[in-house]
Amino acid sequence: MTQDDVVFLRSWFENYTKRFPTEDTEVEANLRYKKEHSLRVRNYMLTLGRDLQLDGNQMFLAEVIGLFHDVGRFEQYVKYHTFKDHRSEDHAKLGLSVLEREEILSGRVSELEKEIILTSIRNHNQRVIHETVSGNTLLFCKLIRDADKLDIFEQVISFYERLKSVIFCGDLNVAHQEIDLKNPSANRKNAGFSTEERNRFDDVINNGFVDTFRLIYPDQTGAYTWWSYIFNARANNAGWRIDYFCVSAGLKDQVKNAVIYQEVLGSDHCPVGLEIF
Ligand SMILES: [Fe+2]
Repeated sequence: MTQDDVVFLRSWFENYTKRFPTEDTEVEANLRYKKEHSLRVRNYMLTLGRDLQLDGNQMFLAEVIGLFHDVGRFEQYVKYHTFKDHRSEDHAKLGLSVLEREEILSGRVSELEKEIILTSIRNHNQRVIHETVSGNTLLFCKLIRDADKLDIFEQVISFYERLKSVIFCGDLNVAHQEIDLKNPSANRKNAGFSTEERNRFDDVINNGFVDTFRLIYPDQTGAYTWWSYIFNARANNAGWRIDYFCVSAGLKDQVKNAVIYQEVLGSDHCPVGLEIF
């Protein structure tokens, strides 16, 4: 893929998003939202890519995957009036069919690049990345999932601004501080502990959210929620704390305890919990 191909794909995306003219202001607002989300995720992909010191061609891939990851959203909303996949269809799969039908990748990207782009889009909204994905393709699968989440952080913040009390939880795929992973210095440039991801988590905190585990246990080390399946990581507790319960500032005094159930097996993560008064 060359710079010219990226320029072409950018302008294709711009034109594609204009193909759904509507008088309905709600539809218009939702389609605009998805377009803006795609552009922001594209920017996050580029920032993460720079952070990870990807080479020029990898940066092209990062940009294209970011821009196209939600390309199925437009037809999904126009057809079903919802972004809920379970009430319509899998928007990642729909996105792949749009790209195939439009034939915009053929002749512009190599077969390998096409495979990376399509696999990353296909896996971006799945609960877990398919186990057969590996190598470079796995890197881009992880990148798009993280970039997508970084934008969701922003949305959570603005949602919070309109509400008084919010609890949000989940696998945020970022260890916030050095204390939150076993080997911080070796992972400084890796997804999950990159400066960009940690800074976005700072944004969440700076916007009034509280990481409930650190509220209760500010100095506790070895408190992890995820361990790689390799290198006997769990047995050695070489893990990461990447699953969180965060509460908005107004709920801070109601936090009674934050729990990590490290003894619960069955996944590479363990459950986390929150007790509130
Ligand atoms: Fe998506």
